[in-house]
Amino acid sequence: MKKILITGALGQIGSELTTRLREIYGVDNVIATDIKKSDNVNFESGPFEILDVTDGKRMVEIAKKYNVDTIMHLAALLSATAEAKPLFAWNLNMGGLMNALETAREVNAQFFTPSSIGAFGPTTPKDQTPQDTIMRPTTMYGVNKVAGELLADYYHQRFGVDTRGVRFPGLISYVALPGGGTTDYAVEIYYEAIKNGRYTSYIDKGTYMDMMYMPDALNAIIDLMEADSSKLIHRNAFNVTAMSFAPEDIAASIMRYIPNFKMAYNPDPVRQKIADSWPNSIDATAAKQEWGFKFEYDLDKMTQDMIEKLSQKLQIRKMA
Ligand code: SER
Repeated sequence: MKKILITGALGQIGSELTTRLREIYGVDNVIATDIKKSDNVNFESGPFEILDVTDGKRMVEIAKKYNVDTIMHLAALLSATAEAKPLFAWNLNMGGLMNALETAREVNAQFFTPSSIGAFGPTTPKDQTPQDTIMRPTTMYGVNKVAGELLADYYHQRFGVDTRGVRFPGLISYVALPGGGTTDYAVEIYYEAIKNGRYTSYIDKGTYMDMMYMPDALNAIIDLMEADSSKLIHRNAFNVTAMSFAPEDIAASIMRYIPNFKMAYNPDPVRQKIADSWPNSIDATAAKQEWGFKFEYDLDKMTQDMIEKLSQKLQIRKMA
């Protein structure tokens, strides 16, 4: 990884991945792109290009202009938005991925794109879901993710593109908000706990899903991309997870730091149905064995850090 192009660089992962990669690989070696411009300082401090990922010609032009050797394709619609706009989701998620893979083939770049726990479905084994198992998702997002994993494998086998990917669980972070996901409640809850001391969860009690704190997710991406390719059996895409919890567990964790925190439940039928179709917990053994995946944050350690960092951020915003 010497010159890296990131799509969706203003999104939840991209906002932090761009900063992190610029620290490691040099500011000028990380080209951030997104469909719109941001006032975020990250993007004023290094190369930034407007890119709609459905425009394959422009993607190739940017990749050639900067002579990139790595593409990290993050631009996508998440599960709940994709359910609301399935055709748009197909066009953006699959069209964007196809363009990104074609660009990687044309400029001979290493390639990363995230898959998700959303690639699994109701017939998948629910607990400790294995790396290789039944994948019959019932959401448009899941259909896109399974097709994406297969496409990325295909580009590796057929064209020799060095494609790599992980199946991310819900990602929790304080820099940029996720948008339109099913696991977003686990981010919103911290904002509401700090601002108002209460949260009404759209996911019901007893609904377990895998989650991970953003610093561990960034390490996973970098470690996988830097891993010795001869050791990779799976490539697209590795199960990774740091914790599995239900809404009442995260509420209990928050109450350790904010004792008066109040939690209520008002399940949203669409997102509850999506959550019910996903695993309770996935097994990350293949990622551990093939490239040494590890994580640092469990639920309480994450809660402590989220509350500290988010309180600072919200305080600064209040003062501005
Ligand atoms: N966080 C995503 C979502 O909820 C899952 O990959 O859609």
